[in-house]
Amino acid sequence: MVLVDGKLVEPEAARVSLFDHGFLFGDSVYEVVRTREGRPFLLDAHLARLRRSAAEIYLEIPFTDGELADQVRRVVREAGHEESYIRIIVTRGVGEIELHPATCRRPGLILVALPLRRPPERLYTRGIRLAVVGRRRTHPHSLNPAAKTGNYLNNVLAVIEARRRGADDAVMLNAEGHLAEGTTMNIFFVSGGVVRTPALESGILEGITRGVVVRLVREEGLPLEEGRYPPEALREAEEAFVTSTTRDIMPVYSVDGRVLESRGPGPVTRRLIRRYAAFSTPRSAGR
Ligand SMILES: Cc1ncc(COP(=O)(O)O)c(C=O)c1O
Repeated sequence: MVLVDGKLVEPEAARVSLFDHGFLFGDSVYEVVRTREGRPFLLDAHLARLRRSAAEIYLEIPFTDGELADQVRRVVREAGHEESYIRIIVTRGVGEIELHPATCRRPGLILVALPLRRPPERLYTRGIRLAVVGRRRTHPHSLNPAAKTGNYLNNVLAVIEARRRGADDAVMLNAEGHLAEGTTMNIFFVSGGVVRTPALESGILEGITRGVVVRLVREEGLPLEEGRYPPEALREAEEAFVTSTTRDIMPVYSVDGRVLESRGPGPVTRRLIRRYAAFSTPRSAGR
């Protein structure tokens, strides 16, 4: 089910204007939220990030978080799926075909609720195959990677390049050549018994799942370092995993064709997967 500017429509019937700057220029922001036991999971954190993304592109969202949350719950209810994948999109709105948004009178709001699909099981039992591609994450002085915008072409190209090399997905470096993140996921790896992840200053999206995992790693009493790392650090890691809303914690199998020492989910990854599952059961999620 889809809500376009407050109107409920079936996904196939949903339409946006050709003149929406979201379509014309990728001038929009979005969030992906999932439900757990039918309820939007960590919605407050996602709405807070939506607002931060909007601020990065000088877009004012004319709805309160309460109004957005009501709309999210409405589309989930109307969709009636067992678990939903929810996409919240705020576009610059309809205007003239010119870059400056002066003619866009109000932002468009689109909410999509589709059945949640779990990634293929082999990506959990064996792990994901990553390739460090040449395509770099945008520099924070360009389109800031901390903003989740409708302009994902850089990441689209990166995943195409990774697939051409026989991998499942891409790892992108920042302009300085340090590890940044996957095309739609954050990266963690373990070396010397320390759990490591690129620092936010590496120019990445502050993943909601990443934030939870950082907290859980600390609560587990495991050593954690957020830093700047060369790609070799990931290739030579003892084990690694990626995080995102739709994947939760997914182990890494190989990087650039080189199978990691753990040859699949390693002990720290398994421990955190268990810990994350316990955290994300609705009773303990603090909602
Ligand atoms: C570039 C990028 N990094 C990381 C993530 C993971 O973020 P989250 O855990 O909030 O889903 C995403 C999510 O789609 C993303 O697009």
